[in-house]
Amino acid sequence: MYQNLQIALVVAVATNGIMGCKGQLPWHFPEDLKHFKSLTTGGIVVMGRVTYFSIPEDFRPLAERTSVVISGKLAKISTSTHNVQWCTNPSEALKWCSDNAKVGQTIWVIGGRRIFEAMLLFVTRAVITRIPFAAKGDVIFPPLPVEFNIVKSTKIDLTAPVEVDNGPQINHLVVEWYER
Ligand SMILES: NC(=O)c1ccc[n+]([C@@H]2O[C@H](COP(=O)([O-])OP(=O)(O)OC[C@H]3O[C@@H](n4cnc5c(N)ncnc54)[C@H](OP(=O)(O)O)[C@@H]3O)[C@@H](O)[C@H]2O)c1
Repeated sequence: MYQNLQIALVVAVATNGIMGCKGQLPWHFPEDLKHFKSLTTGGIVVMGRVTYFSIPEDFRPLAERTSVVISGKLAKISTSTHNVQWCTNPSEALKWCSDNAKVGQTIWVIGGRRIFEAMLLFVTRAVITRIPFAAKGDVIFPPLPVEFNIVKSTKIDLTAPVEVDNGPQINHLVVEWYER
Protein backbone atom coordinates (compact mmCIF):
# COMPACT_ATOMS: atom_id res chain seq x y z
CA MET A 1 0.00 0.00 0.00
CA TYR A 2 1.23 3.51 -0.89
CA GLN A 3 4.25 2.02 -2.68
CA ASN A 4 3.95 4.89 -5.15
CA LEU A 5 4.90 7.32 -2.38
CA GLN A 6 8.31 8.21 -0.98
CA ILE A 7 7.51 8.73 2.69
CA ALA A 8 10.22 10.01 5.03
CA LEU A 9 10.27 11.43 8.52
CA VAL A 10 12.31 14.25 9.93
CA VAL A 11 12.66 15.06 13.61
CA ALA A 12 15.04 16.47 16.20
CA VAL A 13 15.33 14.43 19.39
CA ALA A 14 17.10 14.97 22.72
CA THR A 15 19.16 12.24 24.39
CA ASN A 16 16.20 11.39 26.65
CA GLY A 17 13.82 11.02 23.68
CA ILE A 18 12.08 14.36 24.21
CA MET A 19 10.93 16.17 21.06
CA GLY A 20 8.36 18.71 22.31
CA CYS A 21 7.47 20.84 25.30
CA LYS A 22 4.16 22.64 25.89
CA GLY A 23 3.36 22.75 22.19
CA GLN A 24 6.78 24.06 21.17
CA LEU A 25 10.28 22.82 20.45
CA PRO A 26 12.25 22.59 23.73
CA TRP A 27 15.32 24.25 22.15
CA HIS A 28 16.21 26.85 19.55
CA PHE A 29 18.75 25.87 16.92
CA PRO A 30 18.20 28.07 13.83
CA GLU A 31 20.75 25.95 11.95
CA ASP A 32 18.57 22.85 12.43
CA LEU A 33 15.52 24.79 11.21
CA LYS A 34 17.49 25.66 8.06
CA HIS A 35 18.36 21.98 7.63
CA PHE A 36 14.64 21.13 8.03
CA LYS A 37 13.73 23.77 5.46
CA SER A 38 16.24 22.60 2.88
CA LEU A 39 15.14 18.97 3.27
CA THR A 40 11.42 19.57 3.04
CA THR A 41 11.19 22.39 0.50
CA GLY A 42 9.31 21.22 -2.57
CA GLY A 43 7.72 18.33 -0.68
CA ILE A 44 4.51 17.63 1.18
CA VAL A 45 4.72 17.99 4.97
CA VAL A 46 2.29 15.92 7.04
CA MET A 47 1.69 16.94 10.64
CA GLY A 48 -0.72 16.95 13.56
CA ARG A 49 -2.80 19.97 14.46
CA VAL A 50 -0.58 20.91 17.46
CA THR A 51 2.58 20.88 15.35
CA TYR A 52 0.87 23.04 12.70
CA PHE A 53 -0.11 25.69 15.22
CA SER A 54 3.34 25.54 16.85
CA ILE A 55 4.71 27.19 13.69
CA PRO A 56 4.80 30.97 14.21
CA GLU A 57 1.91 32.64 12.40
CA ASP A 58 4.21 34.58 10.07
CA PHE A 59 5.74 31.31 8.81
CA ARG A 60 2.50 29.28 8.65
CA PRO A 61 1.82 27.50 6.39
CA LEU A 62 5.42 26.63 5.56
CA ALA A 63 6.48 28.27 2.31
CA GLU A 64 7.19 26.23 -0.83
CA ARG A 65 5.63 23.11 0.68
CA THR A 66 2.13 21.69 0.77
CA SER A 67 0.96 21.14 4.36
CA VAL A 68 -1.32 18.23 5.18
CA VAL A 69 -2.66 18.79 8.69
CA ILE A 70 -4.43 16.06 10.65
CA SER A 71 -7.14 16.98 13.14
CA GLY A 72 -10.17 14.97 14.21
CA LYS A 73 -12.01 18.17 15.08
CA LEU A 74 -10.71 21.11 13.05
CA ALA A 75 -10.47 19.25 9.75
CA LYS A 76 -14.26 19.16 9.64
CA ILE A 77 -14.67 22.90 9.95
CA SER A 78 -11.51 24.35 8.41
CA THR A 79 -11.96 26.48 5.38
CA SER A 80 -9.33 25.98 2.75
CA THR A 81 -6.11 27.93 3.10
CA HIS A 82 -3.70 28.07 0.19
CA ASN A 83 -1.34 25.08 0.34
CA VAL A 84 -3.01 23.49 3.38
CA GLN A 85 -5.04 20.32 3.22
CA TRP A 86 -6.92 19.34 6.38
CA CYS A 87 -7.53 15.61 6.95
CA THR A 88 -9.52 13.91 9.70
CA ASN A 89 -7.07 11.03 10.28
CA PRO A 90 -3.71 9.61 9.10
CA SER A 91 -5.31 7.24 6.53
CA GLU A 92 -7.13 10.12 4.87
CA ALA A 93 -3.86 12.09 4.84
CA LEU A 94 -2.02 9.25 3.11
CA LYS A 95 -4.84 8.82 0.60
CA TRP A 96 -4.71 12.56 -0.17
CA CYS A 97 -0.92 12.34 -0.65
CA SER A 98 -1.29 9.29 -2.87
CA ASP A 99 -3.82 11.13 -5.04
CA ASN A 100 -1.96 14.45 -5.17
CA ALA A 101 1.82 13.92 -4.84
CA LYS A 102 3.78 14.74 -7.96
CA VAL A 103 6.20 12.18 -9.37
CA GLY A 104 9.37 12.23 -7.27
CA GLN A 105 7.86 14.45 -4.57
CA THR A 106 8.71 13.34 -1.02
CA ILE A 107 6.09 13.13 1.72
CA TRP A 108 7.77 14.38 4.91
CA VAL A 109 6.11 13.25 8.14
CA ILE A 110 7.09 15.96 10.62
CA GLY A 111 5.25 15.03 13.86
CA GLY A 112 4.00 14.93 16.50
CA ARG A 113 4.06 11.66 18.31
CA ARG A 114 0.75 10.07 17.24
CA ILE A 115 1.35 11.07 13.64
CA PHE A 116 4.80 9.45 13.70
CA GLU A 117 3.30 6.31 15.28
CA ALA A 118 0.54 6.10 12.67
CA MET A 119 2.87 6.71 9.73
CA LEU A 120 5.95 4.70 10.77
CA LEU A 121 4.68 1.63 8.93
CA PHE A 122 4.88 3.53 5.63
CA VAL A 123 8.09 5.48 6.27
CA THR A 124 11.18 4.25 4.42
CA ARG A 125 13.65 6.99 5.39
CA ALA A 126 14.23 8.82 8.67
CA VAL A 127 16.41 11.88 9.21
CA ILE A 128 17.06 12.48 12.90
CA THR A 129 18.92 15.44 14.38
CA ARG A 130 20.42 14.36 17.68
CA ILE A 131 20.14 17.14 20.28
CA PRO A 132 23.10 16.36 22.55
CA PHE A 133 21.44 16.85 25.94
CA ALA A 134 18.45 15.69 27.94
CA ALA A 135 15.60 18.17 27.48
CA LYS A 136 12.58 18.97 29.61
CA GLY A 137 9.36 18.28 27.75
CA ASP A 138 6.12 16.38 27.42
CA VAL A 139 6.28 14.71 23.99
CA ILE A 140 8.57 11.75 23.33
CA PHE A 141 9.63 10.49 19.92
CA PRO A 142 8.47 6.86 19.51
CA PRO A 143 11.21 4.24 18.98
CA LEU A 144 12.24 3.65 15.36
CA PRO A 145 11.38 0.07 14.33
CA VAL A 146 14.42 -2.24 14.39
CA GLU A 147 14.46 -2.67 10.62
CA PHE A 148 15.72 0.90 10.21
CA ASN A 149 19.49 0.96 9.65
CA ILE A 150 21.68 4.01 9.90
CA VAL A 151 23.21 4.73 6.48
CA LYS A 152 25.14 7.92 7.19
CA SER A 153 25.83 10.54 9.78
CA THR A 154 26.39 14.22 8.98
CA LYS A 155 27.04 17.41 10.96
CA ILE A 156 25.28 20.76 11.22
CA ASP A 157 27.76 23.42 12.33
CA LEU A 158 26.40 25.98 14.79
CA THR A 159 27.20 29.61 14.10
CA ALA A 160 28.03 30.14 17.79
CA PRO A 161 28.95 27.50 20.39
CA VAL A 162 26.24 26.67 22.95
CA GLU A 163 26.95 25.72 26.56
CA VAL A 164 24.43 23.40 28.21
CA ASP A 165 24.13 23.14 32.01
CA ASN A 166 27.78 23.97 32.62
CA GLY A 167 28.74 21.04 30.41
CA PRO A 168 31.04 21.06 27.39
CA GLN A 169 30.31 23.55 24.63
CA ILE A 170 28.38 22.27 21.63
CA ASN A 171 29.57 23.53 18.28
CA HIS A 172 27.71 21.16 16.00
CA LEU A 173 24.70 18.84 15.87
CA VAL A 174 24.81 15.32 14.47
CA VAL A 175 22.22 14.20 11.91
CA GLU A 176 21.59 10.49 11.47
CA TRP A 177 20.10 9.17 8.22
CA TYR A 178 18.21 5.88 8.37
CA GLU A 179 16.66 3.63 5.75
CA ARG A 180 14.65 0.44 5.95
N1 LIG B 1 11.47 17.93 17.72
C1 LIG B 1 10.84 17.92 16.57
O1 LIG B 1 11.44 17.70 15.52
C2 LIG B 1 9.36 18.16 16.54
C3 LIG B 1 8.63 17.96 15.37
C4 LIG B 1 7.25 18.18 15.40
C5 LIG B 1 6.64 18.57 16.57
N2 LIG B 1 7.40 18.77 17.66
C6 LIG B 1 6.78 19.15 18.93
O2 LIG B 1 5.86 18.12 19.30
C7 LIG B 1 4.73 18.74 19.94
C8 LIG B 1 3.47 18.44 19.15
O3 LIG B 1 3.29 17.06 19.06
P1 LIG B 1 2.00 16.36 19.67
O4 LIG B 1 2.26 14.88 19.59
O5 LIG B 1 1.68 16.96 20.99
O6 LIG B 1 0.84 16.87 18.70
P2 LIG B 1 0.56 16.70 17.12
O7 LIG B 1 0.72 15.26 16.72
O8 LIG B 1 1.29 17.70 16.35
O9 LIG B 1 -0.98 17.07 17.08
C9 LIG B 1 -1.89 16.31 17.84
C10 LIG B 1 -3.23 16.47 17.23
O10 LIG B 1 -3.23 15.90 15.92
C11 LIG B 1 -4.49 15.31 15.68
N3 LIG B 1 -4.32 13.87 15.57
C12 LIG B 1 -3.26 13.12 15.91
N4 LIG B 1 -3.50 11.83 15.63
C13 LIG B 1 -4.74 11.78 15.08
C14 LIG B 1 -5.54 10.72 14.60
N5 LIG B 1 -5.12 9.43 14.57
N6 LIG B 1 -6.77 11.02 14.10
C15 LIG B 1 -7.21 12.31 14.08
N7 LIG B 1 -6.49 13.35 14.56
C16 LIG B 1 -5.27 13.06 15.05
C17 LIG B 1 -5.37 15.66 16.86
O11 LIG B 1 -5.94 16.92 16.55
P3 LIG B 1 -7.37 17.42 17.16
O12 LIG B 1 -7.14 17.53 18.63
O13 LIG B 1 -7.60 18.72 16.47
O14 LIG B 1 -8.37 16.36 16.79
C18 LIG B 1 -4.35 15.78 17.98
O15 LIG B 1 -4.78 16.52 19.07
C19 LIG B 1 5.03 20.22 20.01
O16 LIG B 1 5.68 20.47 21.23
C20 LIG B 1 5.97 20.42 18.84
O17 LIG B 1 6.79 21.56 19.01
C21 LIG B 1 8.72 18.56 17.69
